[in-house]
Amino acid sequence: MIKKPDSLIHYYRLRAPEYEQIYYRDIPAKRKELADEGERLKGLVSRKTVLDLACGTGYWTEVISHTADFVVASDISAEMIGEARKKQYRRPPEFVRSDLYNPPFNAGAFDMVTLGFWFSHEPRQNYDGFLKILKPLVKTDGLIWMIDNNPPAEGPDLQSVGRDEYGNNYKQRFLDSGEEFAILKNYFSPDQLREILSPHFVVKSLIFNECYWSVILRGA
Ligand SMILES: C[S@@+](CC[C@H](N)C(=O)[O-])C[C@H]1O[C@@H](n2cnc3c(N)ncnc32)[C@H](O)[C@@H]1O
Repeated sequence: MIKKPDSLIHYYRLRAPEYEQIYYRDIPAKRKELADEGERLKGLVSRKTVLDLACGTGYWTEVISHTADFVVASDISAEMIGEARKKQYRRPPEFVRSDLYNPPFNAGAFDMVTLGFWFSHEPRQNYDGFLKILKPLVKTDGLIWMIDNNPPAEGPDLQSVGRDEYGNNYKQRFLDSGEEFAILKNYFSPDQLREILSPHFVVKSLIFNECYWSVILRGA
């Protein structure tokens, strides 16, 4: 029986201790794309003040900490932040537990905002509202980086369990315990990404690989 969780938050709280397995599956194409993006990200954030939103277990926070001047890592889940705190960082981030729809940061506080594997969970009907929340967080010439999955990155667990009235896709997901969830997870083509993002940002770069896509955005 599939449980439709009240929210994604509940699912990720439960998933926190096992979440990082996704990064270490022995699939060479995935590993290479992640490693390449990690190197690119280190260059992008170099000497910058960065907000890693929905930081989860801190996988990208750790990458960012190699070269950034200062990193704030924020997530709504205390369990995720607890996992992230266990990591070693080149420069220890400041962790802030907060809701990305109500970020407790001053406008223009960051050179860059990073967002790993979030946009696919954002409901389609909220895109404009969400992008309007993101934009003021960075300085006028600041950048936003996002990475997310294409279907091949999702491993054997690909099954869609339907769409809602807005066209959001729901996917079957299992925790290690066997507990089953239906999670909102949308996939995009490059054209769809440009159509969604361009009204709000200049799309400086859009990389669309087999397993992952990533974008670098600047306020238009
Ligand atoms: C797919 S994980 C991504 C984690 C990390 N960014 C990464 O790339 O590995 C999604 C994260 O979003 C967090 N999250 C869910 N709803 C949120 C909200 N409203 N505000 C902030 N974080 C939220 C979850 O707790 C989870 O850590």
